[in-house]
Formats: sequence, C-alpha cells, structure tokens
Amino acid sequence: ARLVVLVSGSGTNLQALLDASRDPAYGARVVAVGADRDAIQGLARAEGAGVPTFVHRVKDHPDRRAWDLAIRDTVAGYEPDLVVSAGFMKLLGPDFLAAFPGRVVNTHPALLPSFPGMHAARDALAYGVKVTGCTLFAVTEGVDDGPVIAQSAVPVEADDDENSLHERIKVAERALLVDYVGRMARGGWTIDAERKVTVK
Ligand code: GRF
Repeated sequence: ARLVVLVSGSGTNLQALLDASRDPAYGARVVAVGADRDAIQGLARAEGAGVPTFVHRVKDHPDRRAWDLAIRDTVAGYEPDLVVSAGFMKLLGPDFLAAFPGRVVNTHPALLPSFPGMHAARDALAYGVKVTGCTLFAVTEGVDDGPVIAQSAVPVEADDDENSLHERIKVAERALLVDYVGRMARGGWTIDAERKVTVK
C-alpha cells in the first residue's frame, strides 16, 4: 500500500513508519511526505530516507480553500491508499477529505473523546487523570472527532510534567500507528454508518 504522510514537526511518528516499511512484509511504504512549513525535522527525515517531499504553506495561497485544494492535488498525484496525518498541525478541509474518503488517519496523544485539541498531554495532567493514552482515528471535518480505529492506554506518573507525559504517550503512539497502519495496509478496513471501524 502507498502511504502519504503529513507532518509539521519532529516527525518521530513518520520515522517509525519509515523504519517499519523497510521490511517489504510490512505491506506499506511511504511514497511522499508533505508539510505545511519548511525546515522541519520531519522533512529532513524523509529526505534522509530518499522519500520525495512537498511543502504547502497556507500563507502562500490566497485563502484556506486554495491551500486545501493545492495539498489535495499534490497528495492525489502520489495515488495514496492511505494518508497519515502524523503531527500535522493544520485541519484538512472538506475538499481534501472528499478526495480520500475514509482513507485519512490521524494520531492524537490522548484517549479521545477526552482531551481533544492542541495540548492533550497538558490538559490530561491538569485534569488529574491517572491514565491517558493515544488514539488513531479516521479524520472527519471536526476536530479530533472521527471514528476511532485503535487506542492504547498510558499511565500518568506522580512526577510527570507535560513533556515527560507526552514523551511516554509518543512511545505508545508510534507503536500503535505502525501496528494499525500495517494491518490496514495488508488487510483493509471498513467504517460503518455507526462509525464503527473494523480493521481486517
Ligand atoms: C504527536 O504526539 C502527535 O499526536 C501530536 O504531535 C506529536 C507529533 O510528534 N499531535 P512527531 O512530529 O511525530 O514526533
């Protein structure tokens, strides 16, 4: 299966997919990496692996819809079976999502529907939960509210700060992403009308 991965930052989730896909038995490979900004580690990781990259910055387009159409067209050119948003910090718009129905997944560092948004680890810590985790979900137009594909629980330790908790979550997040993207690539998946996801 062909993966296009979208990143905005350090790209450790991307790296986990690049590493996994070195084994042909994994069933998926990263054919392109896109970003909404220049000069980030995620792009350098792709270049290091010999994977083509592209950048579409919102500010280089007349408006958000034009940006969405541009990124849609570039991604479509790589004919992905699955688009993985891996630390991509922009919301993908309706035009983008309509081009890849049920085929855009995102990873979030909390057990959705708890703690959606940009500061999931900070919010979990502030709330005082003893268990948080990560969620792989199918992207819809809402923020962090698409059908859940898989989740993994992570304990909150007494001396955690936002960074230590987020780093512990990210270890689980990378494992979950690699596991489920591989399963989806090899066996396929369905999403029913009641938003129940079945990975074969
Ligand atoms: C991940 O925790 C992702 O869920 C969150 O930002 C982090 C990205 O990490 N939105 P990386 O760029 O893959 O290292």
